[in-house]
Amino acid sequence: MNNQLDQNTFSSPQGTFTLERFPVRHNLQAWDAADEYLLNHLAEIGGPTGSLLIINDSFGALACALADSEPTSWSDSFLAHQAALQNLAANNIDPASLLCLPSTDLPFGDGDDEDAEEEGGAVSSEGDTEDRIGTVLIKIPKTLALLEYQLGQIRPFVDEQTVIIGAGMVKHIHTSTLELFEKILGPTTTSRATKKARLSFTTFDPDLNPGPVGQPTSYEFGSGLAAVTMPGVFANRKLDIGTRFFLEHLPAPGDGDVVLDLGCGNGILGVSAAKANPNCSVVFTDNSYLAVASAQATAVRAFDEERDDKFVVADGADAVEDASVDLVVINPPFHDQYVVGDETARQMFADAGRVLKPGGQLLVVANRHLGHHKAMNNVFGNVKTLASNPKFVVLRSNKA
Ligand SMILES: C[S@@+](CC[C@H](N)C(=O)[O-])C[C@H]1O[C@@H](n2cnc3c(N)ncnc32)[C@H](O)[C@@H]1O
Repeated sequence: MNNQLDQNTFSSPQGTFTLERFPVRHNLQAWDAADEYLLNHLAEIGGPTGSLLIINDSFGALACALADSEPTSWSDSFLAHQAALQNLAANNIDPASLLCLPSTDLPFGDGDDEDAEEEGGAVSSEGDTEDRIGTVLIKIPKTLALLEYQLGQIRPFVDEQTVIIGAGMVKHIHTSTLELFEKILGPTTTSRATKKARLSFTTFDPDLNPGPVGQPTSYEFGSGLAAVTMPGVFANRKLDIGTRFFLEHLPAPGDGDVVLDLGCGNGILGVSAAKANPNCSVVFTDNSYLAVASAQATAVRAFDEERDDKFVVADGADAVEDASVDLVVINPPFHDQYVVGDETARQMFADAGRVLKPGGQLLVVANRHLGHHKAMNNVFGNVKTLASNPKFVVLRSNKA
């Protein structure tokens, strides 16, 4: 077997699958030892029971292996959903076997249930019995805030019969992680570690009253503006210092300009641009459903009047037409889940090159040491340092 085949061949008790990361930006496997451990355990206990909810499946390893159960994949990542659908198709499994549910939607039920939803979308009390989840598999996400939100959202849809299993690498499962399960759902134990992965097992306690958990935060930025930020979204407690530095050097867009806030997070950059000149329109886009929802909430708070802005969940600038934008602003991500790297940033610069009109400009804030000027130069052939401080640079490129 050659290396590439080895890299992509995933063997589990449920079958052998060819799995790729999507988009293929890293030469890394599309699953981890926690997926393997979880699937081995499920095979030992006779498989999932009842309706199956998979949370934070990265590239569809769990969706492929458990496709017979027609699972729901609940995730905050648009790319994770795309990856799962691609991998299902590549393994001749009907993608219709998987329901891809954005993290902004409730795990089950139509969300119209007055009892199950309180103002602002947070679930307040027990959902309908027919909405009960039989098995919940949760890959431990990178941020505790997202985990807290997810556990709070599923609480009304689980009961004492629900099998609730967490899975992650030992280094990502902390005491605080297990405490969240205990606080929100009920008593939790862990398995021994295998290949540096661990499982957790939670029994639902109906008498717990965790109170409101996983609520959006709000803090001030600029004069009188409030950043509304959903759990797990970048900078959900306070303004990022790179973003703060960027704001000091953000030019006002021209009248009628289209601004693209690429990787918008809670939308601070795009909203600030629109405040500087309300006669521009802004496209806010991010891979995270909760980020785009946050940007929309930030914009709603900032403006009294109706605006012509767009809010799109997508990979990079995939949803944006060629040569349609005057100004692109990016505070690029420097990791993709647990993987640190600049692949996504470089893809975003290439996207900016595609969507900018001739003469349009790309502005980027970055840690000095990341060397993004080289990557921008590769796309635009020109890059200037607009501002710098000991930690950050603001870089500008113009499309010829
Ligand atoms: C460093 S944060 C910047 C957020 C915001 N612009 C700010 O300055 O506060 C990077 C953002 O890029 C988003 N992101 C990561 N990968 C992405 C992708 N493939 N496509 C679109 N957005 C992505 C992340 O979800 C995150 O919100």
